[in-house]
Order: sequence, then structure tokens, then C-alpha cells
Amino acid sequence: MEKRILIIGASGQIGNELTMYLRNMYSNKNVIASDLREASSLVMESGPFEILDAMDAKAIEKTVLKHNITDVYLMAAMLSATAEKYPIKGWELNMSSLFNVLNLAKDKKIEKVFWPSSIAVFGPTTPKTNTPQGTIMEPTTVYGISKQTGERWCEYYHKRYGVDVRSIRYPGLISYKTPPGGGTTDYAIEIFHKALKEKKYTCFLNAQTTLPMMFMDDAIHATVNIMLAPSHKIKIRNAYNLAALSFNPQELAANIQKHIPDFTIEYKPDFRQAIADSWPASIDDATAREDWGWEHRIDLDMMTKIMIDNLK
Ligand code: SER
Repeated sequence: MEKRILIIGASGQIGNELTMYLRNMYSNKNVIASDLREASSLVMESGPFEILDAMDAKAIEKTVLKHNITDVYLMAAMLSATAEKYPIKGWELNMSSLFNVLNLAKDKKIEKVFWPSSIAVFGPTTPKTNTPQGTIMEPTTVYGISKQTGERWCEYYHKRYGVDVRSIRYPGLISYKTPPGGGTTDYAIEIFHKALKEKKYTCFLNAQTTLPMMFMDDAIHATVNIMLAPSHKIKIRNAYNLAALSFNPQELAANIQKHIPDFTIEYKPDFRQAIADSWPASIDDATAREDWGWEHRIDLDMMTKIMIDNLK
């Protein structure tokens, strides 16, 4: 049967690029983009778009039935820094949107669900380097709590109702096409914009804050590949660890200086420092590599060059 895809949150940092990638794969008409607000002109002009509230179960069901949707990618979420400002709103959005989609799969109105988890599921008691797939998880942020809870519910819906839901724990994602919104890892994007425009950047994390990161193309490939994998290969139904890069602001700044020698950075950590400090520095993703053949392609040097070349 033909794939009919709905992307919820198509105006966001991942949703925008994912929509274009999937339209290329499955043809424009088969990939319905949706969001609370209009998406980029590229998304709006290349295929169908619906204004859709991820918290509105009825509206999602209506859209799914209207377009004969088979697969839903739920990319709408409130990220870590914003959710610390609006804890209850963040919790409600992140959880109710997930239930809305899982319930459609449980009722067999859709076949497959992609839902993103995050390195934020880990907390200060988690082993910090090479964080294993299965380990201590005591997240201390609202975002992390919502992702950790979401993972439990994904596994529950799979085991109890046979729902084909697939998930990965994205690290910080770096891209130049769509701005991120409200994440703790966003510094790694801001820094490029400021380096090119002003040759200086004030970082809201300190120099030594090492976090797991990934270039967007790798994240999109991971997303598409986990959805293409045969069901029996997806042995983990909470979410897979996924890794590519690990660096701190000082290392990233040094890499940027290879292209922009007079670039300078200073550090003024704010409330996001505590969020970053609660997260791992590097991730062991051997299980994803083994189960469904995940591999990353883009290293720190390549990523830095791609960002600078494209933002120039
Ligand atoms: N990039 C996200 C954030 O910083 C983590 O999933 O909130």
C-alpha cells in the first residue's frame, strides 16, 4: 500500500527538513505537513499543508482520515529551556500530543508512528560518558521527564496494543535551514550566526560543557532509516540512543576560528547551564548500529564547514 505521511510540527527545526526529505522520497502529494503556524515557503509551496494543533485529538483524527494517513511523525514539542519556563504547558503539550497519536495507532487508524525522544531522558545520576542504552534515568527537567514518560508509554502501547512506534534519543541537532526554538543545545547554532555577523559570541554555557550533538542530515537519515527498517529489527520500543559528535563550546569555537580567525567567544552561563550539566557528555549508540544499521556520516570539521559555507 502507498505511504501517506502526516508530519505534525512541520514548521520546526526538524519538521521542516524532514518534510522536504520525505516529499522527495514519497512524492509531494503523499506527505502532508502540519503545524500551528505556517511553515517555510518551501514546505508551503511544495505540497499539502494543514493548520493543526497537536493537542487537538479530534482535529488530528480528522486530518488523518481526510488524507488516508498511514504514518505519523510527531515532531511538535516544547524543548528543554522553554519547558523550564512553562512547566505545566510543556508537560501538557509533550504528553497529550503523544497520546493523541498513539491512540490513533491503537485504534488502527494509522499504521506507524515516529516520536522523537532526547538525551534529556538522562539525568545527573546517569553515567556521563558513553551513556549506555539501558541505564539509570532520573531526568530533572520537565522536558526530560516528559520524554522519559513518553518512552515508557511508547513501549507500553507497543507491548499491550501492538502499536508500531519507533523512537530515537536525538542529541543536540545542528542545522542552518530552520532556526531551533528553546533548546539548551541551541548555542551550537547561534554561535555560527554570530561568528559570521559579529565575529563574537557570548555563550550561555561554560567553555567545558561537553554535550552530544549531530548535524541535521544525519538526524534525518536516522529518522527515515528507523522507519524503513523491518519491524522485527526494532527491538527497542522505548527509544534508541543515537550518537555522532561530542564537543564543548571551546572546541566548537576553535573549529570556527579555523575559518574565521578573528572570531572570539566569551562565556556567561545562565539557567541553561544546570540543564546541560544534568545531561550526558557522550552516548553509546551500539544498539542502534547493530539493530537497524545506524551510522553517522558528518564529523565536527565537516559540520563546521557546511554551516559556515551555507550561512555566509
Ligand atoms: N536539543 C534539545 C534541547 O536542548 C534536546 O533534545 O532541548
